[in-house]
Amino acid sequence: MIDPTPDTSWHPASWLGRVAGQIPAYRDTQHAEAVMATLARLPPLVTSWEVDALREQLALAGEGKAFILQGGDCAETFDDCRSDVIVTKLKILLQMSVVIISGLKRPVVRIGRMAGQYAKPRSADTETRTDQTLPSFRGDIINRSTFTAKDREPDPELMLRAYERSGLTLNFIRSLIDGGFADLHHPENWDLDWVSHSPMADQYRRTVQTVADGLDFFESLTGKSIDQARRVDFFASHEGLHLPYEQAQTRFLEHRQAWYDLTTHFPWIGVRTSRLDGAHVEFFRGVRNPIGVKVGPDTTPVFLQGLLRALNPANEPGRLTLIHRLGSGRIRQVLPGLIDAVHSAGARVVWVCDPMHGNTETASSGLKTRRVENILGELDAAFEVHRAAGSHLGGVHLELTGDHVTECTGGARGLTESDLERDYRTQVDPRLNYEQAMEVAMRIAGHGRDI
Ligand code: PEP
Ligand code: CO
Repeated sequence: MIDPTPDTSWHPASWLGRVAGQIPAYRDTQHAEAVMATLARLPPLVTSWEVDALREQLALAGEGKAFILQGGDCAETFDDCRSDVIVTKLKILLQMSVVIISGLKRPVVRIGRMAGQYAKPRSADTETRTDQTLPSFRGDIINRSTFTAKDREPDPELMLRAYERSGLTLNFIRSLIDGGFADLHHPENWDLDWVSHSPMADQYRRTVQTVADGLDFFESLTGKSIDQARRVDFFASHEGLHLPYEQAQTRFLEHRQAWYDLTTHFPWIGVRTSRLDGAHVEFFRGVRNPIGVKVGPDTTPVFLQGLLRALNPANEPGRLTLIHRLGSGRIRQVLPGLIDAVHSAGARVVWVCDPMHGNTETASSGLKTRRVENILGELDAAFEVHRAAGSHLGGVHLELTGDHVTECTGGARGLTESDLERDYRTQVDPRLNYEQAMEVAMRIAGHGRDI
C-alpha cells in the first residue's frame, strides 16, 4: 500500500536544496530575482478551475473511459509564435482527435505541447565548434541559439518573453475555440491543403463525415445539442524543466487551500530530471496540477514505486501520468514489469505512450530522425501489453507538426533518408509531418476493436 503520510516541509523554493539537473545558473542573480518577482505579479496563464477539470478528465483516461492526445513540437520557438503556425498545429490535433474518437468510441482529451514548451534538456552542457566552446543552447526561455558567447549566456529576461509568448498563444487558441473553430460539427474548418491530394484523404473525409453525421443524428433524435462537441476543451502542457519560471508562477489559492503551478495545466518531468532526490520531483510533489513523468527503458520497479509515493501519496486518480518512452525494440520486454510494479503498489496512474523518444536515431547524413514503422510498432505494442496486463493505455504523447516537413522517415508516402534534407526544420527532435501524424491517428483508431 502507498504511504499516505503528508509531508509539510514543501514550499515553492524547497527544490533549491536538491540537486537541480539541467537548470543553468544566471550570472546576474539580482536580475533573475527581479524577473521572478515580476512573473509572480503578472496574472496566471491558466486557472485552477481548468487545472482541476483536466485532472478529472485524466482520471477518466486512467480508467479507459477517455483517451489523451498530447502533441506538438519538441521545442516551440519565439519566432514560431505566429497565427499560421498555431492554427496549423491546432488543426492537426483536432483532425487526429476526430479520427481517434470515431475509432475508439470514447472522448479525447486534447493537450498541446504548446504555450510554454520553451526549455530543453541537453545531454552536454557545452557545444564546441572549431576552436570555440560555449554553453549549449537550452531553448528560447534560457538562451539564444546563435553561436556567440553573448547569445549563449542564460538571460533571465527570456523568461518574461516566454511568459508573453505563452499568453499570446493561449489567448489565440482560446478565441478560436470560443468562436466555434473547434466545433466537431464543422470539421471542414480544419482542412489543410494536403487533404485533397493525400493518399489518406478519402479515409479521413469518410471518418469526419461519419462523426459529424453521428452528432447531427443524435441531436435531432434527442432534441438536445451535445455541448461538448461544440466547444471542445484544449489544454496546454510543457516539460517542467526550468524551475525558476515554474516557481515564479506558483501560487497558494485560498479558495482551494493548495498550491498551483499556473504556467500550464499539465507539466511533465523529463527522463533526465526524474531523480527521486532531485529538484524536479521535489518541486512538483507540492503543486496540485496533474503531473506527467517520462519513464525510460532503464526505469526500475523500485524507482517507480518511489515515484508513486513521492508524487501521489494520496493515490488520487488523474494526479499522476506515467508517459513511457521505451523504444519499439524494448517495450514488450520492459513495460510488463513497470505495469506490475504499479499494480502491486495498488497505485492509480494514467498510462500514456510516447512512441517518439525511444526511437530516435541518426541518419547517415548526421540528421536526427525516427522511422514511422518504429513509432507505429511501439504504439501497437503499448496497446497489446496493457491489454494483456489488464491495464489501460490512456493516451499518446507525440512530437508532430501540421506542416509538410521531412524529419521522420517512412509513412504512407515512404519518405527515405535521402528525403530528409528537403524540408528538415526542427531545431531539436524530428517531428511527424501532417500525413504521418494522420497515419498514427488512424492506427490508434484501429485499436478500437480490441480495447
Ligand atoms: C521531450 O519530450 O522532448 C524529451 C526531451 O523527452 P524525454 O524526457 O522523454 O527524453
Ligand atoms: Co523531444
